[in-house]
Amino acid sequence: MKVPNHIAIILDGNGRWAKAKGMPRALGHKQGSKNVEDMCEIMDDIGVKYFTVYAFSTENWNRPDKEVTGIMSLLRNYLKTGIKRANKNNMRIRILGDISRLDEDLQESIVETEKATAANTGLQFQMALNYGSRDEIRRAVTKIAEKVEAGDLKATDITEDTISASLDTAGIPDPDLLIRTSGEQRLSNYLLWQCAYTEFYFTDKHWPDFNKEELLKAIDSYNNRDRRYGKVTEE
Ligand code: FPP
Repeated sequence: MKVPNHIAIILDGNGRWAKAKGMPRALGHKQGSKNVEDMCEIMDDIGVKYFTVYAFSTENWNRPDKEVTGIMSLLRNYLKTGIKRANKNNMRIRILGDISRLDEDLQESIVETEKATAANTGLQFQMALNYGSRDEIRRAVTKIAEKVEAGDLKATDITEDTISASLDTAGIPDPDLLIRTSGEQRLSNYLLWQCAYTEFYFTDKHWPDFNKEELLKAIDSYNNRDRRYGKVTEE
């Protein structure tokens, strides 16, 4: 079995998982956040190098205040123990997205977590927070335009690599496999630039029920595809 180097997941279905069990949505998110931690260990165990999750989108602010506050407090808890857990597992944590809209204490914890885990060489874990791919591309274009304005870059020297290096995912290889849980089959403004050649896998399982067995099914499906992207690739 060929294990993808980079797996990205759109976590969906926390709410539906809870509803199906007659529980409040908040419990779905709690279970969903626990599953993110479990999945990091599973990814590492099976040899995945990069794992990226869509935890909170720029559109998720439109959810009821109580739900947003609940998700932020899960994030707070995650970050509280994040450095210790990451260092124990040699895991590097990075956040994608515009964190300036998050509460100040969260921004500080994020900066601290990224710094404290930067040298870890095991699983490279990315969490997208207040992330939207179009917003990420807009921010990248602004950065590039500023360089052109300052005379540090010629407009005609802008390459695809210039753009990749200006995204939040700078230095991170593109995902090989994108998984979306809970039945929807769309990209929802996630890693639009980075998923140009990515294989997609959709499952009806809600995120809290997505376990190692489900992950192996997704990888098995990935293995059964003919990945050509315009040229014949070596397998
Ligand atoms: C997906 O289910 C949930 C989200 C996109 C937001 C919350 C994500 C988490 C709690 C996991 C993040 C991890 C940490 C560590 C904070 P949904 O609410 O969209 O489900 P539904 O479509 O069934 O309503």
